[in-house]
Amino acid sequence: MKATAVANANVALVKYWGKREASLILPYNSSISMTCDGLQTRTTVEFSPEYTHDMLIINDEELKKDEKDIMGHIERIRKMAGINNYAKMVSETNFPVAAGLASSASGLAAFTLAAVKAAGLNLDKKELSILARMGSGSACRSVLEGFVEWKKGEKQDGSDSYAECVAGKNHWPEFRMIATVVSVKRKPVGSRAGMAQTVATSPYYKSWLESINEDLEKVRTGIKEKDFEAVGETAEYNCIKMHATMMTTKPPIIYWLPETMEIIHWVRSVRESGTPCYFTIDAGPQVKVMCLEKDLNSLNKEIQSLEGVIKTIMCRPGDGTNIIKEHLF
Ligand code: DP6
Repeated sequence: MKATAVANANVALVKYWGKREASLILPYNSSISMTCDGLQTRTTVEFSPEYTHDMLIINDEELKKDEKDIMGHIERIRKMAGINNYAKMVSETNFPVAAGLASSASGLAAFTLAAVKAAGLNLDKKELSILARMGSGSACRSVLEGFVEWKKGEKQDGSDSYAECVAGKNHWPEFRMIATVVSVKRKPVGSRAGMAQTVATSPYYKSWLESINEDLEKVRTGIKEKDFEAVGETAEYNCIKMHATMMTTKPPIIYWLPETMEIIHWVRSVRESGTPCYFTIDAGPQVKVMCLEKDLNSLNKEIQSLEGVIKTIMCRPGDGTNIIKEHLF
């Protein structure tokens, strides 16, 4: 009744922002991401009659307030498997949690697979993606390797809302991302609350949805054809559009810090001087810089020398979620 899984975070090139149904986590729009080798979570789950309550320990800290309702997710898996035992869950990430580096995606993906295995269930990738989605939307994309599309689906029960691989991790190894960390503080508004507030109050949310299909088409084709400019340009603009909907909620949500702006301007100036690179930012202050392998090391060095950059993590298209033998406890 014990299993350990490893999952990589993913960074969206076309973002998921807004739910049409909250309890099953069904999105208003489809999204496309890269599963990032380098941003990893390992999770061990054990069900045992010896436990008197569910315990969740993330990076050595026992979690009391559970923003993502992980306890609700473990209950869902217990019901599926028909078991009653409480669980101990220990999770470790190699990057800051809840600061906009997609820790919930890798966290919930690793957790879902470990819990499913520990509960004795056998799910295929599609079923696993659907189940991970119910833990955290973006987690459904981390189940798969490389470049991934989460199809929003139409059905009310969510059975057609899951992720599929657009291209495997070896399709375009030249495509890289540099994740920068400019703050390790918890962000003021989590993505869950932030997107609900956006749907409810931003006058621009409708336009966001209207322009999504075009972005999806460009990024999907760009990935298949390895067209870096098309993917980068579309992803960067998609990110700015999402942040425009966030900034126009009531009250406004502004995730960017001065350091975030610093990197945005730096990316634009590097690009103007001839090196192709683009930025994307999720619900937090960290900037992910997309670039080509040949420019990776020199750009990484330059970013590290910018004021306010605490750390950078270099990522390439990575693996989906997998079971490993070494347990964390
Ligand atoms: C900005 O997947 O964290 O990173 O479904 O409520 O758990 P919940 O939200 P979450 O939202 C991710 C939002 C985003 C964009 C993206 O990853 O597509």
